[in-house]
Amino acid sequence: MSPPKPERVLVVGAGPFQVDLIARARGLGAEVVAVDRLPDAPGMALADHAFPINIVDVAAVVALAERLQVDAALTAASDAAVPAVSAVIEARGLCGIPPAVVAVCRDKLRTFEAVHAAGLPVPQTRRVDDSDGLDAAVEAVGGFPLVVKPASAAGGRGVAVVSGRAGLDAAIERARQYAGSGVLVQTFVEGRSVGVEAFLWRGQVVAAFVLDDQYQPLFVSPVGHSLPCTLDAATEAAVVRDVAAFAAAVGITDGPLNFDLRRVGDQTVLIEINPRLGGSSITELVRTCYGVDLSEAAVLCALGRDPTPALARRHVQPVASRLLIARGRGRVDMVGDPGLGWRQHDAVRALRLSVPEGQPSPLAVDEWSLLGSCLVVAPTTGEAEALAARLAADVVSAITVEP
Ligand SMILES: Nc1ncnc2c1ncn2[C@@H]1O[C@H](COP(=O)(O)OP(=O)(O)O)[C@@H](O)[C@H]1O
Ligand SMILES: [Mg+2]
Repeated sequence: MSPPKPERVLVVGAGPFQVDLIARARGLGAEVVAVDRLPDAPGMALADHAFPINIVDVAAVVALAERLQVDAALTAASDAAVPAVSAVIEARGLCGIPPAVVAVCRDKLRTFEAVHAAGLPVPQTRRVDDSDGLDAAVEAVGGFPLVVKPASAAGGRGVAVVSGRAGLDAAIERARQYAGSGVLVQTFVEGRSVGVEAFLWRGQVVAAFVLDDQYQPLFVSPVGHSLPCTLDAATEAAVVRDVAAFAAAVGITDGPLNFDLRRVGDQTVLIEINPRLGGSSITELVRTCYGVDLSEAAVLCALGRDPTPALARRHVQPVASRLLIARGRGRVDMVGDPGLGWRQHDAVRALRLSVPEGQPSPLAVDEWSLLGSCLVVAPTTGEAEALAARLAADVVSAITVEP
């Protein structure tokens, strides 16, 4: 008798953020098909079959998936990959989030409408595609401060907190650069920022990891996450119940989801639902803290298998991850290896600098460059956060980035 045919898993995107997923899918015995616009993307060499296809070419990705009869489709971190993943899921009848639901998550006005209609807390949101109606939109979201953002996620790009009328036009103009689908204004939500990485299976939240978020002045998105979160147990449980309600409001039943949230009083306010695994730093955080492999759970789920056993916590190790960012987006100069001293530190589990010296910075978010990332452990979450912040400040102080 011939051995059973391995299952075929399509990973959409083969960049640094999908490498872990590709490796874990292979580790589970699957045959991995990777697609990426760049033939030399780092995940391409790890896959069993690699195809240089642009991931935003949904029809081409679906045609390949049909031809190879893939059994699962997924991605990690990439917003751009999500439409192709969901189209393959629908075309092949696979487990995951269908295009109609993805479309609601990808358009923040539609997310607002769905969540608001369900009676759940979400900031007032209005479209501002032309200057007609701008004043009415500002008034509808409660005036200033307010948030301007592209309707579709662009990895934090084009999102701004605007404190008065003087800064509004420039913020809208900047958001428009990223906005295939329009620009929104939204009520600014005060409160404590928390993230949740949740797994749904057959309509139930079977695991949820609640993260503390860390910020840096002037940079809008979180620059760090840490585990275990420092919310009290009752609040953490309430947050998990609330994300289940948000998922139900938009109609998600299966798969990994990544939430951006704010706690205001005893309410959890939804900022964003990302219908995919979060960034790779979150996979690394959860693995370090709890010994749980989100990439593996995501592959199992995409193959239509219950991921719950793979999501069971094995231990608790407080940990923090942080981006290394600097203002400017031009040429990067550094003195020697700015991370050298820190690499010897017992608590530092990872320290990556992803910028070639003397070259333009490869990855920018608005006027900031992403220079790298770190992951540190400590006896408590607060100490891990503080150490990561110290490391980031120290390493970045040895680097200059031209404006
Ligand atoms: N209405 C809001 N109130 C307060 N903070 C917000 C609001 N909208 C966005 N933010 C902050 O900006 C970040 C990026 O916004 P988000 O809508 O998540 O964009 P992206 O999809 O690009 O990640 C959020 O993680 C949050 O910290
Ligand atoms: Mg977000």
